[in-house]
Amino acid sequence: PAQALIFDLDGVLTDTAQTHYRAWKRMADEEGLPFDRHVNEQLKGVDRMASLEIILRHAGRVLSAEAKQALAERKNAYYVEAIAAVTPADLFPGVERLLEQARARGLKLGLASASRNAAALLERLGIGRRFDYIADAARIARAKPEPDIFLDVAAALAVPPAQCIGIEDAAAGVIAIKRAGMAAVGIGDPAALSGADACLDAIAGFDLDAFVSP
Ligand code: BG6
Ligand code: MG
Repeated sequence: PAQALIFDLDGVLTDTAQTHYRAWKRMADEEGLPFDRHVNEQLKGVDRMASLEIILRHAGRVLSAEAKQALAERKNAYYVEAIAAVTPADLFPGVERLLEQARARGLKLGLASASRNAAALLERLGIGRRFDYIADAARIARAKPEPDIFLDVAAALAVPPAQCIGIEDAAAGVIAIKRAGMAAVGIGDPAALSGADACLDAIAGFDLDAFVSP
C-alpha cells in the first residue's frame, strides 16, 4: 500500500502553470519571440533556463549566455510580481481536504517542484507546514524528466519509491515519477500524460480510496 504522496506544485495544487505561461509570454512578446500555448506544453515541469532554451530554439534565436540570463531574470521578475497576489483562495478545489485526509491516514506528504519559487508560493498558499518534506530544486542534480527530485523526496520521507504516488501535470514530471519507480497520477490531458498510471481532470478528483487502500 502507498505510504507517501509526492506532489508537484505548479498546475497541480494551484493554477501557476498559467502564471508561468503568462510571464514567459510577456517576455517573449517584448522580445518579438514567437511563443504560444502549444510550445508552452513542452515547458511544463522544465526548469527556468531549459524553458528559455526551448523558447529560443522554437524562435530560431541564438543569444549569448549573458543575454539569456537577463531574459530568464526578467521572466522570473514578472512571475514573482504575479505570485505576490496569491492567497489560500488560489488553491485548487479539494487540495486542503486531500492533504487533511491523507494526513489522517498516516501518509507522508512531500513536494517535488522544479520551481525555485516553490517555498515562497507554498507560504502564500498557506500550506507550507502541511508537508513533511519540500525538495529544494536548487540542490537537485538532474531536472525532470530525470527522477532525482522524486527520489530525493522519497529518501527524505524514508519511504521506498514503490510505496510512493507521484502527482504531476507535466509530461516531464510523469516521466520522472515513472523513472523513480513510483506510481504516477497525471492531472490534465491524458494524451499529453500518456505514461501516467491514472489521469484526472483536476486534483479535486483524487480519491484516496481509489489510489490508496483504506
Ligand atoms: C515548474 C514549472 O514547476 O517550475 C515550470 O512547471 C517552471 O514552468 C519551473 O519553469 C521553474 O520555476 P522557477 O520558478 O524556478 O522559474
Ligand atoms: Mg507542474
